[in-house]
Amino acid sequence: MYVCLCEGVTDGQIREAIYEGCCSYREVRTSLGVGTQCGKCACLAKQVVRETLSEV
Ligand code: FES
Repeated sequence: MYVCLCEGVTDGQIREAIYEGCCSYREVRTSLGVGTQCGKCACLAKQVVRETLSEV
């Protein structure tokens, strides 16, 4: 599912970024660009990051 429509970032891509070494929302944002446009996705993106970090 798309988390960030502005940048076309999916929850799968966010998970992937974390498996590849990102360990915070900030790092995911820098690496994928998620939340850098309108910012509406920030809340959901943070939630996906938090959930994924608690699994790894
Ligand atoms: Fe992510 Fe707009 S939907 S910045």
